[in-house]
Amino acid sequence: MDYNAAVTGWGWYSPAQVLSNHDLEKLVDTNDEWIHSRTGIRERRIAAPGETTSSMGTIAARQALEEAGLSAQDLDLIICTTTTPDHLVPATACLIQSNLGADRAAAFDLNTACSGFIYALATGSQFIQAGGAKRILIVAGETLSRFMNWEDRATCILFGDGAAAVVLEPTTQSAGVLTTVLGSRGDVEQALMIEAGGCARPASAETIAEKAHCVRMRGNEVFKMAVRCMSQAAQEALAKAGLSISDMRAVIPHQANHRILTATQEALGVSDQQMYINIDRYGNTGASSIPIALGEYLQANAVDAGDHFLFVAFGGGLTWGAAVLRWADIPAVKMERLQRMLKDKLALTG
Ligand code: UT7
Repeated sequence: MDYNAAVTGWGWYSPAQVLSNHDLEKLVDTNDEWIHSRTGIRERRIAAPGETTSSMGTIAARQALEEAGLSAQDLDLIICTTTTPDHLVPATACLIQSNLGADRAAAFDLNTACSGFIYALATGSQFIQAGGAKRILIVAGETLSRFMNWEDRATCILFGDGAAAVVLEPTTQSAGVLTTVLGSRGDVEQALMIEAGGCARPASAETIAEKAHCVRMRGNEVFKMAVRCMSQAAQEALAKAGLSISDMRAVIPHQANHRILTATQEALGVSDQQMYINIDRYGNTGASSIPIALGEYLQANAVDAGDHFLFVAFGGGLTWGAAVLRWADIPAVKMERLQRMLKDKLALTG
């Protein structure tokens, strides 16, 4: 039997503390007018002391499980996509597994920076297609504020914290993740990096003095590549699905910079009604930006089975990707789940 991976649950979490452009004016030589006109950002959320990628991810995960009508014990696999893990080891996915009490689940992290959600969708959907897992939790979380150089006005104005989660489950419907397109270019890794803290440059007094544990970016270079790669990946993902932009209910891009988004929108011919942009309120929340935006979209809009979404992202690595999702008939997916669980139980009891 061929299975597709349907989204059956979703949730997101945004920390309470708001850092506005006016607040940033007190930290670095910048102003609200520059930030808003060059990036589209008005404010971003900052994790409270004690909040981490795993703690925020756990809150989002609980919402996603509740929406899917699943318990943590039902999960087979947890994929956490983040560039800002709680620790180098253990994986943040394992911390979330423990927080949830997901006793049966395998767990691993995936780091493709801001493209992480697309890579996680591609990975999760292929686990489902291959039969390796039936109920998968994808968590995308970032605590980027802890990796900012708060003296570097070119980066510290851009990023924010947050987390989001989705549940993937098998369905025989012609729905779910239809296509994914992924790409990378490691030769330009220095365009966006956190240089120190790994084995190449372990932490030392020198790396701390250099602020080499913070995000560094050659913004202009990243900007130009982002527009080109996002447009190409989106077109490829649509072509593979045999669909066009006009078939999309909504296009949800990674929220990196409003100007990148409008340039990509123009290149793809996306209408204002289709394009979802929330960068003004959150800034760039890395891997979590697409699923946070998806969560907001689903809260504000009734979506029907058969509606299509296009996700597209670009980030550190450098990496990029796009995915086309057809919204499934979720009550029918849940019925399929019930039948599968009953069958598995009967097989176990002989
Ligand atoms: O998530 C995926 C990865 N990230 C991205 O996709 C981000 C991509 N890049 C960008 O969003 C933009 O390149 C930035 C927002 C980072 C920068 O915008 P820009 O239009 O490329 O500005 P720029 O770096 O060319 O700088 C223009 C000027 C410079 O001054 P001079 O040399 O012209 O006198 C900067 O020093 O703006 C200055 N500047 C600022 N001024 C006020 C840079 N940052 C600031 C600031 N406030 N925060």
